[in-house]
Amino acid sequence: MDTRALVLFLLTTWVAGAQTPATGYVGSEACKTCHAVMWFNFYKNPHYKSIAAGNLPPERTGCEGCHGPAKAHVEARGGKTTIPRAFSLMPAAKILDTCLACHAKDFSRANIRRSSHTEADVVCSNCHSIHKSQTPKFLLARKQADLCYACHANIRAQFEMPSKHRVNEGFMQCSDCHNPHGAFAPTWRDGQRPRMVEQAAGTNEEACVRCHSDKRGPFVFEHVPVRVEGCEMCHNPHGSTNTRLLRRPQVFALCLECHNGAGNFGREGQGVIAQLSTHNMFDPKYRNCTTCHVRIHGSNSEANFLR
Ligand code: HEC
Ligand code: HEC
Ligand code: HEC
Ligand code: HEC
Ligand code: HEC
Ligand code: HEC
Ligand code: HEC
Ligand code: HEC
Ligand code: HEC
Ligand code: HEC
Repeated sequence: MDTRALVLFLLTTWVAGAQTPATGYVGSEACKTCHAVMWFNFYKNPHYKSIAAGNLPPERTGCEGCHGPAKAHVEARGGKTTIPRAFSLMPAAKILDTCLACHAKDFSRANIRRSSHTEADVVCSNCHSIHKSQTPKFLLARKQADLCYACHANIRAQFEMPSKHRVNEGFMQCSDCHNPHGAFAPTWRDGQRPRMVEQAAGTNEEACVRCHSDKRGPFVFEHVPVRVEGCEMCHNPHGSTNTRLLRRPQVFALCLECHNGAGNFGREGQGVIAQLSTHNMFDPKYRNCTTCHVRIHGSNSEANFLR
């Protein structure tokens, strides 16, 4: 076969292949008569793009892109068992697979199969509603905070505490710090307890420094726990009854949990260095450690974080 014949041969087989109709598909128009409300609202759905494009294979177009070939369903004039993918009858794992057939490539979902949500059978359709979304973006089943609180009711109270991030007021969202699709293990705190806490994109940093960029570092003099254990070591991320979201009501109580010379770590292997004997704990002035150690998150000019 000369080259021209080969090209022609390949071309014709390719065209023939492309034209082989996928079996059992009838197209989305066919659903209009019986599922009118759904059909007439569908043009607003981001998934309508597949119909508008007009050039996708039937298994990726419109209604049947999710529900599967519907010929038998239409011929039977309806029924739940005649349609290949009736979500009300599908186990969680199958729903996940259906959506990931198109959505697996997105970076934000790269670790979804190992997330605590997937492990607990919480899948796409628990949070997203394709046909009855309550939000202008992302097809969420409810407004984000309400969606999360429906299952994490205990968290709401944490955002009502005197010191808090203003999630309930609508200034922030859970997804500013969490990736509900599952994040990767964090680089801080020895990778322990990820809690689906998002890392600032591409940097392996805590989500916190996206907004609190002055705490990002690197500093000439690092305060070890800020880098190693992470912000949550001293702060409650959601809310706290103490000022500055602190885990302890008194700053010194927080500091002395580590700076007491106990244990065997710290740079001399003799526990984290205790404060100096010049620090008179009976003198109220000394109890508020951060009035002197003002650069408690790290300093570029002074090893004791005094400036
Ligand atoms: C002749 C009427 C008719 C047509 C045409 C039709 N359906 Fe249906 N469909 C029904 C009826 C009736 C049911 C059963 C409802 C029930 O039992 O609650 C149903 C159920 C479904 C369900 C099951 C939902 C569930 O999880 O319970 C899906 C999905 C569905 N149809 C999708 C489609 C799609 C996609 C099309 C177009 C390709 C289509 N239907 C065309 C009548 C129709
Ligand atoms: C992106 C995937 C997707 C597409 C595209 C899609 N659906 Fe659905 N459909 C779902 C899911 C998921 C459910 C389960 C209910 C839910 O979570 O909202 C559902 C539920 C249904 C139901 C039964 C639920 C009910 O409230 O009665 C019908 C009927 C249905 N779809 C028809 C259609 C029709 C008709 C189209 C095209 C106009 C369509 N679907 C396009 C994913 C999809
Ligand atoms: C046939 C391929 C396909 C399937 C299957 C599919 N999607 Fe989509 N989805 C898309 C496309 C394409 C878009 C539009 C992306 C864009 O706007 O560029 C989209 C958009 C979305 C969006 C909105 C994104 C935004 O920016 O608003 C959500 C949420 C979503 N899909 C969830 C789902 C869920 C949940 C399922 C399973 C029930 C699903 N998808 C199944 C192809 C698919
Ligand atoms: C625990 C709840 C939850 C589950 C489970 C979930 N999502 Fe989401 N999803 C969200 C929230 C919340 C957002 C909005 C994030 C934001 O505001 O930045 C979102 C955003 C999206 C977006 C648009 C933005 C982006 O990240 O690309 C798509 C597409 C999407 N989800 C698809 C899916 C698919 C597909 C599945 C299942 C494989 C799924 N989601 C499972 C809660 C969830
Ligand atoms: C349908 C119920 C449901 C919804 C909706 C839901 N979750 Fe979850 N979530 C769970 C379950 C179940 C677990 C795993 C068990 C556990 O640790 O509580 C979990 C685990 C988590 C964890 C990890 C907890 C840990 O200890 O590792 C975080 C963080 C989380 N969810 C955040 C969210 C956010 C943010 C949203 C909203 C975008 C959300 N969830 C929506 C049910 C849900
Ligand atoms: C300012 C960042 C931030 C915001 C906003 C945020 N979280 Fe968290 N969340 C975290 C961090 C960090 C942890 C891990 C705490 C730890 O390991 O000590 C966490 C832990 C969790 C946990 C597991 C631990 C527990 O207390 O049960 C759940 C569930 C959770 N968050 C849900 C939510 C929900 C729901 C929202 C929105 C209403 C939300 N979070 C908003 C940062 C945040
Ligand atoms: C989306 C941006 C954003 C992210 C992410 C974020 N914060 Fe904040 N944070 C704020 C804003 C805005 C305030 C100001 C408080 C308010 O809303 O009144 C604040 C306040 C604080 C405060 C001081 C409260 C006070 O009383 O002055 C602390 C401490 C804090 N954040 C710690 C954290 C930690 C720890 C994390 C990560 C777990 C984090 N933040 C993630 C925006 C953010
Ligand atoms: C070793 C304990 C500790 C760690 C770890 C820590 N902080 Fe703090 N942080 C404090 C203390 C103590 C204060 C209160 C300072 C004061 O009294 O003015 C504070 C105050 C703050 C404030 C409010 C005042 C200000 O300086 O803006 C923010 C915001 C903050 N921290 C964010 C963070 C972030 C983000 C991280 C992680 C990168 C972090 N913190 C890690 C102890 C810590
Ligand atoms: C989670 C444990 C932890 C907490 C809480 C903590 N620190 Fe530290 N801090 C350390 C470690 C570890 C070092 C490094 C010293 C070492 O290697 O022994 C350090 C170093 C320091 C240093 C510098 C000493 C030097 O020469 O390197 C000062 C000053 C200091 N911390 C003050 C404070 C103050 C003030 C607080 C309370 C706001 C505080 N620390 C809370 C663990 C902690
Ligand atoms: C009145 C100001 C002031 C207050 C308040 C204060 N410190 Fe200090 N601290 C200093 C100074 C100054 C140094 C450095 C002393 C030196 O280098 O001689 C220091 C040094 C330290 C060191 C390093 C010790 C070493 O061996 O290098 C630690 C740890 C420390 N402080 C912890 C604390 C803790 C914890 C508190 C609160 C209970 C606190 N400081 C309150 C002024 C203060």
